[in-house]
Amino acid sequence: MTSDQGKTIFTGRCGSCHDADASKKLPDGTTLLARLAKNKDPETRLATRLKNPQERHQVFLYLQPMIEREQSSAPGDKTP
Ligand code: HEC
Repeated sequence: MTSDQGKTIFTGRCGSCHDADASKKLPDGTTLLARLAKNKDPETRLATRLKNPQERHQVFLYLQPMIEREQSSAPGDKTP
């Protein structure tokens, strides 16, 4: 239920540019997922685009497993 809400927000409002899994390439060749994975506090990072704390947290919960997967798949790539 909770992650569904985050999914609905993300796919509906962010998915057109970032894809449902946040892995669409941005103009500089990175992805939102990769950027969030490198960030120490991805939830706060989302605040640049999601002002509502409730929505932000739901979106964070939705993205969290993907972020964790991304972090563990790129162990040598933690520094920007
Ligand atoms: C119209 C296209 C578009 C939409 C819609 C969009 N984004 Fe983005 N977003 C971008 C682009 C392009 C960038 C990279 C900009 C840059 O390099 O500064 C970006 C960057 C970001 C970043 C910064 C990542 C970082 O650490 O540098 C965050 C966070 C983000 N988007 C979250 C969201 C969220 C959450 C939503 C939905 C509420 C969203 N975006 C909707 C195009 C979009």
